[in-house]
Parts: sequence; structure tokens; C-alpha cells
Amino acid sequence: MIAIILPMSVLNEDPVTDPNENPAAQIAALRELLRHHEYQYYVLDAPTISDAEYDTLMNELKALEAAHPELLTPDSPTQRVGGRPAEGFQKVAHSRPMLSLDNAYNEEELRDWDRRVRELAGNLPVLYVAELKLDGLSLALHYEIDAHGSARLLRGLTRGDGQIGEDVTTNVRTIRSVPLNVSPAKLHDSHLQNSHMDQSEGNARAASTFEVRGEVVMPLASFQKANEERVAAGLAPAANPRNFAAGTLRTLDTKAVAQRRLDFYAYFLILNGEYNPAGQHATLETLTTLGFRVNPHRDTFTTVDQILAFLTKVEEQRDSLGYEIDGVVIKVDAQQTQVRLGYTGRHPRWAIAYKFTARTGITQVREIVVTVGRTGKLTPLAVLIPVVVGGTTITNVGLFNADEVARLGIRPGSWVRVQRAGDVIPNIAGVVIDAEHPEGTGVFEMPTECPVCHTPAEHVEGEVDSYCINVDCPARLAQSLTYFSHRGVMNIEGLGDAMAVQLLDSGLVKSIADLYTLTEEQLLTLERVGKKSAQALLTQIENSKQAGLARLLMGLGISFVGERTAELLAGEFGSMEALENATQEELERVQEVGPKVAASVHDFFQNERNRALIQHLAELGLKMTAEKKQRTTQLEGLTFVLTGTFPTLSREEAKEKIEAAGGKVSGSVSKKTNYVVAGEEAGSKLAKAQELGIPILDEPGLLSLLESAPPA
Ligand code: IVH
Repeated sequence: MIAIILPMSVLNEDPVTDPNENPAAQIAALRELLRHHEYQYYVLDAPTISDAEYDTLMNELKALEAAHPELLTPDSPTQRVGGRPAEGFQKVAHSRPMLSLDNAYNEEELRDWDRRVRELAGNLPVLYVAELKLDGLSLALHYEIDAHGSARLLRGLTRGDGQIGEDVTTNVRTIRSVPLNVSPAKLHDSHLQNSHMDQSEGNARAASTFEVRGEVVMPLASFQKANEERVAAGLAPAANPRNFAAGTLRTLDTKAVAQRRLDFYAYFLILNGEYNPAGQHATLETLTTLGFRVNPHRDTFTTVDQILAFLTKVEEQRDSLGYEIDGVVIKVDAQQTQVRLGYTGRHPRWAIAYKFTARTGITQVREIVVTVGRTGKLTPLAVLIPVVVGGTTITNVGLFNADEVARLGIRPGSWVRVQRAGDVIPNIAGVVIDAEHPEGTGVFEMPTECPVCHTPAEHVEGEVDSYCINVDCPARLAQSLTYFSHRGVMNIEGLGDAMAVQLLDSGLVKSIADLYTLTEEQLLTLERVGKKSAQALLTQIENSKQAGLARLLMGLGISFVGERTAELLAGEFGSMEALENATQEELERVQEVGPKVAASVHDFFQNERNRALIQHLAELGLKMTAEKKQRTTQLEGLTFVLTGTFPTLSREEAKEKIEAAGGKVSGSVSKKTNYVVAGEEAGSKLAKAQELGIPILDEPGLLSLLESAPPA
């Protein structure tokens, strides 16, 4: 059925499900389809439909589930975010201890281990499986097979002390590569049932639970992004992706977990407290069949020489993996051999972690300079005596802001330990002070003016960052010209880094506005610019005038205004003029715009030079308007109180919906409250509402109220 349904929905945007079918069947079909696409996207990295098409399917399912709350199950794809851990995390005993591995740091230690394995294995075969040693945290997932033969995620446990872990199920659900449900077909294909049947009542019943263990990692791209957000919020950056992943998995804010994309790689399958008897190699295949993400960098070997060659290959690929590894794990494949080898007190004898050397180096800070970014943000940069770390020469390291310099205690002349977190961007792990590395004697202070154009730097009260607010600052200009031209912004393809530098150096461009008065003759005076490319660039510049308000707002480089905020502002205000005249309070009323963003936008428009630039751009013919978003007002004047847990909406989503329709959400019930929206486990607020006779809605009630009146 799925195969026929899929292309229809993708091509026609028609509902996937047949409205004549019963809701349970429609819901089941949608869930299966969404799971299929989640698997394609999150496990295989090979999506076959667009994000928008995926969202359409998800919304269809949400709507159906909202209309039929009795059909909602915790393993539905709609349930990844929404719940929240109650108070802290419960402690749960592991089915068998989660041990750690013994390490080998060089070839000799690896050969010693191989020798011991062979001695103890006696006449049993020795085949090795090598896998990456992912630098994250281990996680145990418990699945329960239900009456229909499909498996549902029951809980996710951290390693804890190895005997007892913490139940982090709510957060684990948000990890897209963790299947919430494994279909009977996959269980059957995996032979998991067959291999396990004889252990229960003859051949009659399959295993009712199984456990998958593996590693949770934070991909480097997510790490980078989340760390930038931390720093922007005035928090110290996390030292490495592992710490960040561990912190994320244990936060009580499930929404934050969902936003920071974590990944799960499976490596063990446990049935009745025992490792899968089929062996490690087959286990990895089975896990793949079941729909888990299994790391593709793996192989089987019979000799240490082969393993050494694999180690070399992995080290070469290490920088391009997109996540951190700290070595390679080598496991004896056959379960029978594993059992014979057994365990020392803390480690299995049948596996070892070959650890790569840490990629750090010690060097001295020559000076700390301050760079100016596109938004004018001043960022300290440690200029180092060049040092080679993991094969790459590092000459300077960004330090985020003045607080970070103070936190690390870095001064000019300090000796520092530089580390590369797998990716290309290095960071400073800390200052080194010992007999050979004396303390630095220099002084660093954040400048009170822009180091390039000398405009007094602005420092927003309560913020750690300071900014050069001069839009014509040459340093900002160079950065902003390329950003302005970027594809998602004004889309002037011919204006890359090199062209921006040429235009600024030649004096042809001193402000963004100058782009729009460039002539072909002027461009032809530049090196390596011919008639054809000059004309192409001028056409692109001309076309960019129609990009519209949202793109232009982005292009202007206002702090905290990225694509989404720019679109929201443009949709709400409709014109540059309206934005220029908006008060901070009016700006804050826009959905998702908080005080920080509102202040930044407001300040931008208060600045005379910015106003002059905008005026100039308008005169040059740039489009300064956007279509105003239709505001709905059906809940205007009504106050709502939310309590309990709703079946599909999170509290935040419910609040957003009410506010978008003009309603207000208050924290406490009073006579002024118009409606109380109560979900599961609603508490005293519900009682108070009943006492005061205030109408009580459930989630479907709220949704139908939202839909009841047409938009104003
Ligand atoms: S096997 C007894 N395989 O490394 C079994 N561990 O001390 C030990 N790790 O705590 C786990 N990648 O968190 C195994 N492919 C892999 C791994 C892996 C990373 C972690 C795991 C464990 C630590 C070893």
C-alpha cells in the first residue's frame, strides 16, 4: 500500500490517506510512511521527499491524532517532542553491567592483547570486528515487543555507574536515529525472533523484550552551532561534543534536546541479558536491518597487520567524519569465544579500545587581537606561535568574547594547550603554567572602540559582546559584502570573497549602496574581470533589487536577525518604514522575537547612518516591502490558562497558537480567565477553574476553537 500512496502524496499534495478509510487505518498508514522517511533521512542520510512534504505528512497525522486522541500511542512519530521528564531522572538497574574497555595505545600493546586472546581461545576461531570508537556516551535502549509483533521503545538508560543508569527516555525519544518503533517485518527479517524463539516456550513465542546498546554523539556541526548559541547567551562554551552531548541528554528541557541534533549509533544487541549469540559481525548487520544507525566504518580481520592498516585508514579519515572519535574498538566476533575469554574485574577480555593519541599541542600566545565580524561583533583572537596539532598547523584561535578570555585566564605571553576537536576549528583547552611554561605577563583589555574604524564600541547592558555599530566600517564591509551577496540573502552570485576584496581595495565600493551604482567601465578596470563577467555581475546586482524586505533585512547584518527572524519581521510589519518606526514593545510583540532581538533591531534603526543607508538603498530602487502576513484575531480579548500535558501540543506550542490568534496566556486562574485548557495530570489550576466555573477545554477543544472563526 505504501508504495502506491507515496508518489501520489508527493506529486499532488493530496492527503495521503483515503478519507473513506477508518481513522485507525489512516493513522497507521501515515505513521508507517513517516517512519520510512525518518529512516531514509536520519539513518541512511538519503531523504526521498522534501522537508515541506515531510511536514505535510506530519501535520496530517497530528490533525488525525488530535481528532482521535484515543488512537494516540507513545511510539507515534508525533511524540518525539512534547513530553517532559517529571522530576529529575529515575535510577534503573541495567540488565547486565555496562562495562568499559581496556585500552591499547600502540602497536605493541595491541599485539600483546592479540597474543592473550589467541592463548585463551585455544582451538576456537579468532575473527576480529573493528569499529570506530565514537567519542560520546553509551546508552541502553529497551524495546518491548507487543501483541502485534512490533517493538516499541520502552526506555533509554545512561550508563550511570555501570550497574544503575538514569532513565532519560523522554530526551532519547527526540534523537531521530533512535527508532521509536520496529515493525514486525523488520524483526522477522532480522532473524532476531528465530534466533531467540527456542529460549522461551518451544517455538511458540518470540522474545518479548530486547535491548540495543550504542553511543550517543553530537555531530560537529550541531556542536559548533549550539556552542555559538551558548556564547551568544553569555554562557561558557562546552569544551567538546562529548560533554555537550552528555549535558544535553541529562537536561530537563526536552525541547532543547530536540533542537540540538544528537545521533545514536548502535553496536550491541542484548536478548535476555545476553549478547546476541550470532556474534558481533552479524549483530551489526541485524541492527542495520532493524533500522538502527550502525557506523559504516567497520570491517572484519584475522590478523593484527590487517587491523593496523585499518587504523591508519581511519586516522586519515578522522577529520572528515563529521563527529568525534578517539580510537577504534576491536572485538572478538564469535560469542562462544567471547564467553571463553570472559572478563577481568572491569573489562571484557574479548575487546580492546585502540586509542588514538590526543590531538593537543602546547604553544605560546603572541598577542590577542580583536577582529570585527559582519554584524560588527568584536571577537578576541589569540595569535599563536604556530604549532602542529594532529597534522595541521594552527596559527590562531578564536576566543568568542572577553568573558571567555577571562575564564581561561589567557594573556599575551601565556602558554596554552591547543586542541583540535576532530574538526578543523581548534580551541584552547587551558593555560599551562609550570617550570618550563611561565605565566604570561601581557595585559589584554577589550577595546572601547572598533580596532579598524575607531568608532566607539557599543556594549549592550547585560550582554557579554561588544559591537562596532558603524555600518561603513571597512572590516564589517568586507564581511558584509560577501554575506549580503550570499545565495540565501540577495543572491549576487558573482560577488564572492575575492571580488568583495577587489571592490573595496579599488575604492569602487565603500558601502553596500555603492554596489548599485557600479558601471561596466568601472568593473573592467579590475584585474581578471572581462566584459562577460562584468555584465553578468551587473545583471545579478540589478535583479537583487527585487529580493524583498526579508532578504534585505538579513543582508543588512542586524545582530540576531537570521533568515527566520527576518521573515517574521517582514511578514508582520510589511515595510521598511513600518519597521523603522516600530517601538521596542511593538517589535517584541512579534512571535519568537524576544527582548534581546527587539532591542537589537530597534537600536539598528535608531542609528542615523543605518537610516541613511536604507534611504539611499530605497532611492536606488531596492524593494522595501513584503506581503503582510494575515493576522488572525479570533481569540482577541480572551485569556487562557494552560495546565497538564496535552496529547500532541507542547505547552509552548499551545501558547504560540493562542497568541498567534490574538489571545493571551496567563499563569494563574482568576475570575478574568476565559478558558482553562487542561491536559493529562492537570493539577490545582483545574480544580480552581471548576470552583470558579470557568469553561474547561481539552486539546481538541482548543484546536477547534482556534479553527472556529475565520481569520480577520
Ligand atoms: S563496546 C563492554 N563499541 O567506549 C563493552 N564501545 O570504554 C564496551 N564506545 O563506554 C563497549 N564506541 O561508551 C564499544 N564501537 C564501540 C564504541 C564504544 C565508543 C565507548 C563506550 C564505552 C567506551 C569504552
